[in-house]
Amino acid sequence: MMLETAEKGDCMRWLIAGAKGMLGHDLVERVLRDGHDVIAVDREEIDITNPASVNQVVRDVDVVVNVAAFTAVDKAEEEEAAAFTVNATGPEILARRCSQIGACLIHISTDYVFGGEATRPYAESDLMEPKGAYGRTKAAGEWAVRVNTDDYLIVRTAWLYGKHGASFPATMANLAATRDELTVVTDEYGQPTWTVDLADLLVRLVDAKAPSGIYHGTSSGKTNWHGFAKAIVESLGKDPAIVKETTAAAFNRPAPRPHYSVLGHNALERIGVTPIGDWRERWNEAATVMFGD
Ligand SMILES: NC(=O)c1ccc[n+]([C@@H]2O[C@H](COP(=O)([O-])OP(=O)(O)OC[C@H]3O[C@@H](n4cnc5c(N)ncnc54)[C@H](OP(=O)(O)O)[C@@H]3O)[C@@H](O)[C@H]2O)c1
Repeated sequence: MMLETAEKGDCMRWLIAGAKGMLGHDLVERVLRDGHDVIAVDREEIDITNPASVNQVVRDVDVVVNVAAFTAVDKAEEEEAAAFTVNATGPEILARRCSQIGACLIHISTDYVFGGEATRPYAESDLMEPKGAYGRTKAAGEWAVRVNTDDYLIVRTAWLYGKHGASFPATMANLAATRDELTVVTDEYGQPTWTVDLADLLVRLVDAKAPSGIYHGTSSGKTNWHGFAKAIVESLGKDPAIVKETTAAAFNRPAPRPHYSVLGHNALERIGVTPIGDWRERWNEAATVMFGD
């Protein structure tokens, strides 16, 4: 187990489960920078699906963040039971433990809990009607948190990219290095969201003593994958015209993808927490980190 101790400040003790993942990595860095103590754990140190493991590791902390998940969307179609164990039973066990020790649980959820057919941004209170196995298990995880602890923040995110994981920008950069043209879908809309920005939002929610509830942690604005790919290619100094259009029907993927994954941020605004900025502006800054040395 990695215990990193900060040196300054009004220190709280955070435990981050899933710390080696794409979001977890940036979150550990962010929380440490703010002067808090961080217990950073991943699969080697904790199994969130095992109550004994959770009880042993989760102790003497103020904030627990669950960024551990079964995130393989297509694989979940064939392995829904395994996905359920990580995405629903795990959060239930963590929520019960947090309630027992008086810690706040921050649980990360997803746009896939929605049906993806809306024509206006999804509100935090909109009906969850997931279309695939991953979304079903994540929706169950939200309920598991809500019924097992009073002190929780469920933060739904979407279209995450970061330096420490397999992300869409990295895939596009690799393809752009080897091909003259890229073909990217135009009929799926969302909000590309940098893990650094989401980590910052989570810290700001805790600092603001946000009331228990559901929040949307995505960039503002919207684009489709084609638009995001063009922005990525432009950041690489290449001509965005090499990005050609196609539709999702051209790909035969096991899990259904939401056509519309745009999330509204009213709950953040209501408590005076500024949402993450426009996806395009945030990408300009992120690109220097993602593609820098
Ligand atoms: N990536 C996206 O675009 C996206 C979009 C919407 C929502 N989200 C949500 O955001 C959160 C973070 O996503 P991410 O992309 O950063 O995830 P990630 O990179 O897949 O990281 C998840 C981490 O959790 C670990 N883990 C899995 N099962 C575990 C268990 N039973 N006990 C302890 N650790 C376990 C994984 O280990 P292994 O690698 O060994 O399995 C991995 O290190 C997740 O809740 C995800 O559902 C992500």
